[in-house]
Amino acid sequence: MKINILSGALGAEILNFSLNTITHDNFKILNDLLLEHKVIFFRDQNIAPEELMYLGSLFGTVEEHAYVKGLENFPQITRIVKAANEKNQWGEGWHSDVSYDLKPCKTIILRSIKIPPVGGDTVFSNMELAWETLDEGIKNIIHDKKALHESNGSKFFVENYSQMESNGLVGEKYSNEHPIVRTHPETGNKILFVNPTYTKKILGIPENDSNKLLEKIFRHQERLDLSCRFKWTDNAIAILDNRCTQHYAIADFYPGRGLGHERIMDRIAIVGDQPF
Ligand SMILES: [Fe+2]
Repeated sequence: MKINILSGALGAEILNFSLNTITHDNFKILNDLLLEHKVIFFRDQNIAPEELMYLGSLFGTVEEHAYVKGLENFPQITRIVKAANEKNQWGEGWHSDVSYDLKPCKTIILRSIKIPPVGGDTVFSNMELAWETLDEGIKNIIHDKKALHESNGSKFFVENYSQMESNGLVGEKYSNEHPIVRTHPETGNKILFVNPTYTKKILGIPENDSNKLLEKIFRHQERLDLSCRFKWTDNAIAILDNRCTQHYAIADFYPGRGLGHERIMDRIAIVGDQPF
């Protein structure tokens, strides 16, 4: 095994490693790599859907997506498809997945099936570093506050994506309140747990102040020195700790370059704890 660190902030590509060899007995090797690097990548992994499900089950209970139909035989696997001539791509904009859930997923595993020759990289960002480097004045205001996270409803996941199909839960929105600074249940580290896609307001302060503060925090979270970028190839796997990171799937599919190519990924997510 060789570890190729991707940036000063987070992320590592693990070389000479077959995910097929991971079982309950040696799972700690994989989990320790994830806790250390927050997002880990593996290329040329020959993983069938049932093996992806097994890998996910080592982290915990694999959940179904709230709004989108999964694969026929594997309802927990969401196939993310961008049609060849589509500019839009699922996952654009900074977010952590399903932060509006009572127990947002702790781990996400992405498996690339078909990747365009260029375009569609994913950027990941370290929200522990985001907390550490945040302005002290803002820290003092928000450290003991909660924020409201709200799903944007089913349309958000299907409306602008021709290949994504609703599971029938149309129009339902739901929300939960979570601490703005959460504690990682495995490492004890502090995490800045708000994101521009799902966090709607800071509770306990006037709405105007909340809007201004969130805007400042979101700009801070976008800092490139908190991030790493992964260029996908077919049959790669990314495992990310959704508790302490955000991600952004770049939809840079323009004529003459990325446009004209299909992009297909499989995604599974593992049930997490209630943030504290
Ligand atoms: Fe996502």
